[in-house]
Amino acid sequence: MSHPRPDIHALETVSWTGDASTGHLRLIDQTLLPGDFVQVDCRDVPTVWEAIKSLRVRGAPAIGVTAAFGAILGGQSRLADGIQAVRDGVQAATNSLRTSRPTAVNLFWALDRIDAVAREISTDDPLDFLDQLLGEARAISDEDKTMCRAIGRHGAPLIHEGDGVLTHCNAGGLATADYGTALAVIFSAVEAGTTLRVFADETRPLLQGARLTAWELQRRGIPVTLICDNMAAQVMKEGKVNLVVVGADRIAANGDAANKIGTYGVALLARAHGIPFYVAAPSSTFDLTLETGDAIPIEQRDPREITHGFGRSTAPDGIDVYNPAFDVTPAPLIAGIITERGIIQPVDLATIARVLGSAGPPTKEYRLV
Ligand code: MRU
Repeated sequence: MSHPRPDIHALETVSWTGDASTGHLRLIDQTLLPGDFVQVDCRDVPTVWEAIKSLRVRGAPAIGVTAAFGAILGGQSRLADGIQAVRDGVQAATNSLRTSRPTAVNLFWALDRIDAVAREISTDDPLDFLDQLLGEARAISDEDKTMCRAIGRHGAPLIHEGDGVLTHCNAGGLATADYGTALAVIFSAVEAGTTLRVFADETRPLLQGARLTAWELQRRGIPVTLICDNMAAQVMKEGKVNLVVVGADRIAANGDAANKIGTYGVALLARAHGIPFYVAAPSSTFDLTLETGDAIPIEQRDPREITHGFGRSTAPDGIDVYNPAFDVTPAPLIAGIITERGIIQPVDLATIARVLGSAGPPTKEYRLV
């Protein structure tokens, strides 16, 4: 069944509909794009957990925003049982949502914010408590939108007239509350009048580049050429790529950056061809508790994503499969990290600390519970 295709500018990747007592979370089901545009309503925590785990909603900032709203649902289901029950419901929800995916630190950062605000709220009125907590979830979403616009503004001047820009996976509006990180840089450059062409890696095994990035760019009328991941070297060798920009899921204190599997290879190719490789990410993606990227937990996913992708078997039964969802690009391969506070350049401990300052990034340890 095909569905109506609304204007991309009107799409909300993640949103809360209604008030704290009866409202719900609404998501674009990204597993069905680009064929079908379907929004799913989540009215309980297990549905939110499943949506994150199965990548109906994905992208580091977007899953943070989703989890923040999801926590409200945990309290909502206990509203009739009094303030302690609502507090317990929210706590159970944040504990549960922490186990959905391990790599993107934005998830833990957002849930920590919800937990911290829940502790600070002193009211005895269950609805007032949940209202205030919904305010925090909305703030997380609104701040993400603001940060993405700022990332776009800071990064746009890196792209010059006529440039070819390669990106990997999807770091667009679908991966954030709005507008994206890596794609924000491209959108902002285009809005400033720069003519460019994007090369979108298809991004095996789940094709976020082909299904989502190509879709977002095409709908905005931005020239985009889809390539298989294994074509990037050839396209660079042909001189078609002037700059690479990707998103990130977790960045260590030294600038090592985890992103979708295949990103590290793209960075190596860029270095070999003398092409600058940039990462675009908000401060909520930094985990300064980790000295290097070696400590970033890498999600391992179902082998069937490789052997049975998109409906048919493409490998012999019983084959051994390795399916890490992310890899880590070492800081020395990164020309700069484009944040909402400016570009971190050179990418090292001191510059990261200076640009991020003490205000924004997480400073506690993030563990799966
Ligand atoms: O597995 P996914 O689709 O959630 O992976 C997403 C990425 O790797 C993105 O590049 C990253 O989260 C940055 S999104 C602004």
